[in-house]
Amino acid sequence: MNQAFKSDVLFGLNSSPKSLPCKWLYDSRGSALFEAICDTPEYYVTRTELSLLRSVVDKVASLVGPNIDVLEPGAGAGIKIQLLLDALQSPRTVVPIEISPTALEQTARTLKKKYPELNIEPVVADFTSEFELPAHFGRDVEKKMIFFPGSTISNFGPEERRQLLSNWHDLLQPGDFLFIGADLIKDRRVLERAYNDKSGITAQFNLNLLERIARELQTNLDPSTFRHRAFFNEAQKRIEMHLESRQDQSLEIEGQDFSFSEGESIHTENSYKFSVTGFQETTVAAGFCPVETFVDENQLFSLHLMTVQD
Ligand code: TRP
Repeated sequence: MNQAFKSDVLFGLNSSPKSLPCKWLYDSRGSALFEAICDTPEYYVTRTELSLLRSVVDKVASLVGPNIDVLEPGAGAGIKIQLLLDALQSPRTVVPIEISPTALEQTARTLKKKYPELNIEPVVADFTSEFELPAHFGRDVEKKMIFFPGSTISNFGPEERRQLLSNWHDLLQPGDFLFIGADLIKDRRVLERAYNDKSGITAQFNLNLLERIARELQTNLDPSTFRHRAFFNEAQKRIEMHLESRQDQSLEIEGQDFSFSEGESIHTENSYKFSVTGFQETTVAAGFCPVETFVDENQLFSLHLMTVQD
């Protein structure tokens, strides 16, 4: 049994309001459901970022130059890094980091097959905690890059976001790069539709967290007594995802009792939305300097190439 999962669940459900850390959404089923979300017609994020990425990778490759090492925290299926690798001039080492071992194995296999010259060093880790970097990373190369697409930065609150960016800043040297995706503030109907797809895949993804609790911990929890809810919190500029109890109920998890009133929710994830300048300010505050910012023609999504200041 996964002790960290158990203690996070008990801690989150003892908090008020109740919450659960979003990283536990990504077991192998969660990772597969997440890939399916990216294909829903409502979820514009992945599609927009992929086409923006396709149109800018050559420019990015010429700005960062040859012989670079790339680290990708939360690599998932590794589709986006392939677009980047296709454009980069003789990249050396790629380090995909993933919390889901099955997703990571698959990604490493795909990359090895497609790029036999490349040195691929997968790391199974929660990239928000400390992990060991492969010894090869950053050795005998011109530059390093941290690639963080998907607006995954959106899923961290302001304090964690600052922490993450400053950890990465410490991992890089002056002249190295951060290439990062950030979803933009837009019409709330477009935003809310993206996290409430008609086919219910986002709902399944969110509810999978309860199924995981039911599967992995001692409990009487019935996931079907909860529903998925996602809405835009205008004041905080974020989509909030919740699991809302359909009824008054009391749950027992690992010997502890938890009571829920009807409509009470467990907050499972946030997805912050940014303005281009707001996002630049956040990265500048962490010691980065904008090199080039790319936005799609409908101004849905942004990609930022930043460098570490001397
Ligand atoms: N980071 C992306 C976003 O916030 C992808 C994502 C993370 C997501 N968790 C999600 C999408 C949950 C839908 C539901 O949009």
